[in-house]
Amino acid sequence: MMLHVPNVLTRDQVLDMRDRLDAADWLDGKVTVGAQGARVKNNRQLPEHGAVSRELGQIVLDAVKASDLFFAAALPLRIVPPLFNRYEGGETYGLHVDGAMRPLVAGEGWLRTDLSCTLFLCDPEDYDGGELEVVDTYGTHEVKLPAGDLILYPSTSLHQVTPVTRGARVCSFFWLQSLVRDGTQRQMLFDLDMNIRKIRAQLGDSAEVLGLTAHYHNLIRQWAEA
Ligand code: NI
Repeated sequence: MMLHVPNVLTRDQVLDMRDRLDAADWLDGKVTVGAQGARVKNNRQLPEHGAVSRELGQIVLDAVKASDLFFAAALPLRIVPPLFNRYEGGETYGLHVDGAMRPLVAGEGWLRTDLSCTLFLCDPEDYDGGELEVVDTYGTHEVKLPAGDLILYPSTSLHQVTPVTRGARVCSFFWLQSLVRDGTQRQMLFDLDMNIRKIRAQLGDSAEVLGLTAHYHNLIRQWAEA
């Protein structure tokens, strides 16, 4: 599933973040990839454990946790601390797949990457290039969203960021492990949830809506691993 989640951050939150990010020290982005990624990754990242990453990452986490749509689609079990990247002057990240496992904070074990998230912190007109291209069984999808919006996509997909030829592309990115590992089951739960919400808006809390809501929760009980 690929899902566009609009307005995860407010305009003021984006502007505050950009001020702090523009003043920060950036490192070569190869620090967080394995050997395949390192050959094609040419961008910059904020130091993973630095104060700016931690503080801004917490704002991103609070924002996604407050998003009903994000929660319904991702059913997150664990989320890694968000990272931040920057591309300019032709920087790019060629076709790659994200690593299957990511370490959590020291001593807390590992997270399986089920879903990858990119939260845009620049508007599309601020830069040329820098499209996120995600390849799935239905073809290649090009993503370039307004500042404050997020894209959720399967970590199993091959994807790339095309060269940024004007301006700078600044984003937050992170991975999560879902309560529901299987993408098809997760998609079915999301569709069911969205349709129950629409029916409830039309009919109120009828017996049928209650029955479908029970069915939704019972499917989560069947499929969730925590
Ligand atoms: Ni990636």
